[in-house]
Amino acid sequence: MKDHHAIIKATRSFVAENVKDEVTGHDMAHLERVWKIAKNIAYEEKADIFVVELGALLHDIADHKFYGGDHTVGPKMAAAFLVAEGVDDGIIAHVCDIIENMSFSKSIDGVTLSLEGKIVADADRLDALGAIGIARAFAYGGFKKRKLYDPSLPPIKKLTMKTYARQESHTINHFYEKLLILKDRMYTKTAKKIAEKRHKFVQEYLDEFLSEWNGTR
Ligand code: ADP
Ligand code: NI
Repeated sequence: MKDHHAIIKATRSFVAENVKDEVTGHDMAHLERVWKIAKNIAYEEKADIFVVELGALLHDIADHKFYGGDHTVGPKMAAAFLVAEGVDDGIIAHVCDIIENMSFSKSIDGVTLSLEGKIVADADRLDALGAIGIARAFAYGGFKKRKLYDPSLPPIKKLTMKTYARQESHTINHFYEKLLILKDRMYTKTAKKIAEKRHKFVQEYLDEFLSEWNGTR
């Protein structure tokens, strides 16, 4: 196997090429942010840093939402790349397991993840929170031609895979249906701490948004 540094470098080039036309929040900047924060969490949590780095960089390689709900396309593409890079079989299997099972939608179905998988999932979720998370939500909503807000459509209280996939709603509902519940879905202690701060910011933003909407501020 080549040295880790060379493999990470090749992986960054590979995913950058793969997401170059992406504008809905799964772009290279997202992968770089998830990679960096996942690395930091991995140090704190004493996890296998190399597996976490590969999982973070490759986690969005083929989003199931764009492949008719198929969760296996991403792991297959990642495995083909990692085999060509000469990565050990055990590491490839672990990384593919992470990519296949780390998504928020899978967690609703109750999958179990390794420590490294939990860290990649946490890092990805952290990027949906805070200032960047808010920007990504509105960018995604705009891409889907959704309204910013519509008070006549209240958020769905109980989230299941079916209702999560429905999402024919406005972007503010996404805050209630996903962003504000992320804090309690963090796996690691390190991510929980970061999430608390970002959660508070999202909440303050929502208060401000609704006050301005209602003309009370
Ligand atoms: P996951 O891979 O965990 O399923 P998504 O692909 O759903 O995550 O989310 C990617 C980004 O797009 C996140 O920042 C998320 O908040 C945002 N997003 C996803 N669905 C919506 C939606 N219905 N409205 C607004 N933003 C959304
Ligand atoms: Ni992601």
